[in-house]
Amino acid sequence: MSASDQSDSTIPATLPLRNDLIGEEPYGAPQLDVPVCLNVNENPYPPDPKVVAAIAERVAAIAPTLNRYPDREHIELRQAFSDYLARESGVRLKVEQLWGANGSNEIMLQLFQAFGGPGRIALGADPTYSMYPEYARDTFTTWQLVHRNEDFTLDVDATIEAIQDVKPSMVVLTSPNNPTGTSLPIDDLEQILAVCEQVPVTGANEGVHPVVVVDEAYIEFRDPDVPTALPLIDSHANLAVSRTMSKAFAFAGARVGYVAASQGIIDCLRIVRMPYHLSAITQAAALAAFDHTDEQLARVAHLRETRQQTAQWLESLQYKGESIKVAPSASNFLLFGGCFDNRQRIFDELLNRGVLIRVVGPDGWLRVCMGTDEEMARFREALAEVLPIVEQTE
Ligand SMILES: Cc1ncc(COP(=O)(O)O)c(C=O)c1O
Repeated sequence: MSASDQSDSTIPATLPLRNDLIGEEPYGAPQLDVPVCLNVNENPYPPDPKVVAAIAERVAAIAPTLNRYPDREHIELRQAFSDYLARESGVRLKVEQLWGANGSNEIMLQLFQAFGGPGRIALGADPTYSMYPEYARDTFTTWQLVHRNEDFTLDVDATIEAIQDVKPSMVVLTSPNNPTGTSLPIDDLEQILAVCEQVPVTGANEGVHPVVVVDEAYIEFRDPDVPTALPLIDSHANLAVSRTMSKAFAFAGARVGYVAASQGIIDCLRIVRMPYHLSAITQAAALAAFDHTDEQLARVAHLRETRQQTAQWLESLQYKGESIKVAPSASNFLLFGGCFDNRQRIFDELLNRGVLIRVVGPDGWLRVCMGTDEEMARFREALAEVLPIVEQTE
């Protein structure tokens, strides 16, 4: 690799950066100081003052012990995950079936560290969350994709064919999927689990079968008819369901994600985790938030309604004589458009008006996350203004 290959970068070519990382950019949506941020799928409503006080109290209580390392098994927090899931999804799991980390990003990385690696393949369904290829890159796992159907549902036949063909060590399915909002029917998941329970794994010992990871980061925003994969955990030792406190639970800044799975899968993650990866402060803050689950989830039903109303409104719009499409969403965001011949320009014009959304997903589409009522009013006003301008100038 010559020095000129790094000439546009601030990273000196004299540093022994891994060859496969040369030219790579840090991942992340722009963090801009604009009035309306609808780009990273957060819950826009801040914690209730009662919860803020409870967090401060819990953190103050453990502060005198900060000279000591935290409970690296975070047992109390894992019990809180169990209680929360029993309440949220009606599925009671043992502490040994739950595991936490700094955001579900870290959970996913640990899954890739444990089950991916050189010579291993992880399979996903495109379009999907754009961090997955990065976990794969960072763990030297080959990332392979099957394409979703035109309506963004999973192409089950193509997925099964790909599993039988490449024999991945991991199949990563996302429900609701980011950036499309599409949920995964339980029948589809069961078919995939059944195939994975038979298929061998490239690069692994005989008798080994793929792990199926269902990323349910947005699942609390689902409608009542949309299933969670949690009830399948007890009957499928190779199923891992990833969850997070970052989205519906309104706790993105605290960085807490978790995974529900068989004890065997959790024990694999315990091998690759950093010692004391979850700080005592994080654990205390998360426990305080779980003590106030009602308050933390108070706006979820309203955000679901906001999604329904925004979808209807978007579908009533036209761009160049075509109706704007909206992908059916079980999450707190909407992928809309399908007909934007210059989505970057629409994004830029919205940003000029103080509204930040996301250019992501297939060409022609944009993603907007549900904000507060005021933020959504600003979004609507700005989009209604921007579409005719872009239409006329393109
Ligand atoms: C599908 C999906 N999974 C996981 C994450 C990571 O969330 P966190 O690390 O905040 O839990 C995100 C974040 O946007 C996501 O969209």
